[in-house]
Amino acid sequence: MKKRVEVGIDTAVLARNYGKIAARTAPARVLCVLKADAYGIGVGAYAKTLAAAGCDMFGVAEPFEAVELQAALGGSQGPDVQILSSVLPDEIEPMVERGVILPVCGIEEAKSISAAAARLGTVAKVHFKIDTGMGRLGILAAEAESVVRAVRALPGLDCEGIFSHLAMAYDPGDPFTSRQIDVFKKLVAGLAAGGINFKKIHIAASDAINNFPETFKPPFNVVRTGINLHGSFDPNGLRSLDLENALTLKTRIAQVRELPAGTTLGYGRTWCLSEKTRVATICAGYADGLPLALSNKGHVLVNGKRCKILGRISMDYATIDVSEAPEAKAGDEVTCFGRDGEENITPDDWAAIKGTHAYDIICSLGSRRGARKASTGS
Ligand SMILES: Cc1ncc(COP(=O)(O)O)c(C=O)c1O
Repeated sequence: MKKRVEVGIDTAVLARNYGKIAARTAPARVLCVLKADAYGIGVGAYAKTLAAAGCDMFGVAEPFEAVELQAALGGSQGPDVQILSSVLPDEIEPMVERGVILPVCGIEEAKSISAAAARLGTVAKVHFKIDTGMGRLGILAAEAESVVRAVRALPGLDCEGIFSHLAMAYDPGDPFTSRQIDVFKKLVAGLAAGGINFKKIHIAASDAINNFPETFKPPFNVVRTGINLHGSFDPNGLRSLDLENALTLKTRIAQVRELPAGTTLGYGRTWCLSEKTRVATICAGYADGLPLALSNKGHVLVNGKRCKILGRISMDYATIDVSEAPEAKAGDEVTCFGRDGEENITPDDWAAIKGTHAYDIICSLGSRRGARKASTGS
């Protein structure tokens, strides 16, 4: 039985997007961020495609994601898997055992990682996470030099990296980003002057790659990217990279009816037909990731034609005007976003209508009916 709602990834587009990011930021290396199950799409297909495209560094937010990602990449002997945010005391030993690269957010955490490495008779790779202004996690920049020195004195640690995260990089005109970059560069330079060097130095995520090219020039030699892999961007800022949307959300038509003028559609009766109209009810609603904000505003594609969403989107269904696609019938495919013929709708288009960013749209794609475990195709 064909799924009623399906998220798809075009793996060829995904690989091309990765290649474009890598080409733009070279010789810096690209760390692909596949946290939250690759932003809710399903980490397996992403990991395999990106590894085949040449990526050998992957990042996640937490240990459960690290375990799943490592399995998708062929185990602990595969490409590097790195936790970018935090690790809790009871999570440290299992992560060290699996060879997951860990963030160091403070001296106590580093001591626990060192102790776990000693118990396991191994060496744990770590990256210092420096808070230069994000205000979320990490070692405060003012304390970083002494913490780094103290941690490097601990046994069982390979302190291969140092990184930070930018709070305002979506806005190319905001001076806060330059201040964060300066603070970080001064720290790295000060440590280097004292003979402390790192194999991997990184601060850029997708926004900085597009808006702040200095974040992929020395001393930086790694960039992290998540949303750009999907072909999406922050709604603010530049789109310096020429990327393609890799995602599709498809559903099917449940029923087509010709409704008379004066008919009101759906909850709240927010749309009233001004004339006789062919209306199709589609098998996707807000439980499947169609933002309520698209009610009476958004479009979907049927047979390559843009069809306006009429009435309020409900949990499982939405109603659309198929006057431009009069041949549409029950069971036919509907492209909620993605390409159909000459027409193309992207998660970024939906984000603009909702007044949000593409992360919100992509991460909200529903999990019902197995839709969230994406199929792949190209
Ligand atoms: C530390 C860190 N690095 C990189 C990323 C990837 O960000 P983006 O998807 O904007 O490229 C994130 C995402 O929030 C993050 O938290």
